Amino acid sequence: MLKIKNVSKAFSRKGESIQVLENFSMEVEVGSLVAVQGASGCGKTTLLLAAAGLLCPDSGTVEVMDVPLYSLGGEERALFRNKHIGVVFQQFHLMPYLSAKENILLPAMVAGQKADGAVLELMEEFGLESRGDHKPAELSTGERQRTALARALLMKPSILLADEPTANLDRANAEIVLGALSRFARDGHAVLMVSHDPRISGVADRTVQLSRTK
Ligand SMILES: Nc1ncnc2c1ncn2[C@@H]1O[C@H](COP(=O)(O)OP(=O)(O)OP(=O)(O)O)[C@@H](O)[C@H]1O
Ligand SMILES: [Mg+2]
Repeated sequence: MLKIKNVSKAFSRKGESIQVLENFSMEVEVGSLVAVQGASGCGKTTLLLAAAGLLCPDSGTVEVMDVPLYSLGGEERALFRNKHIGVVFQQFHLMPYLSAKENILLPAMVAGQKADGAVLELMEEFGLESRGDHKPAELSTGERQRTALARALLMKPSILLADEPTANLDRANAEIVLGALSRFARDGHAVLMVSHDPRISGVADRTVQLSRTK
């Protein structure tokens, strides 16, 4: 489903180059949930953004469903992402002027589809049913996180990429989220998730350790 091959990425700042990923390869197969772990700053978010088609690597390839993402033009890639890739960002990236419900509905609106029933189901699953009209600023951090996850799941993407999706959740909510991700993966999709949560060992098929290049 997801094939990352020999990906390298460096950031340059003030004439200095920071090598973050170096010839990194990994795969996520259909039906599986793979966790990525590693120290803060080792490149987990960079990897996730590259996998999402949002950050072009310096070299190497990223394929989702055998489509090389960075060979597509910008617009084509955006369409492909909307259809096949769900992303939960570490900082959520919710639209501040839209309600929780509208945020979850957003990918369907972009695709010109109706999804009111699916939105209600997801809000119920993640305990957000009484918070639909709240703007992100009127939600707790954990509620924002679950809103971002519901938004990423709405279109039933082929692959879900989630950056620390349980970081701000209490035990009960973390279990709900991990259970949902696990079921989603088994149900013929795939999940790549960055997490420090020790509970992921119970649900992940594999854990990939990322280390600092220097
Ligand atoms: N746009 C950028 N410009 C320069 N350096 C960057 C940029 N983005 C990330 N970095 C650097 O690249 C490294 C990897 O960043 P990244 O966000 O991928 O880490 P991470 O593993 O997700 O960390 P955390 O666990 O804290 O979220 C960090 O040292 C960071 O400072
Ligand atoms: Mg990160």
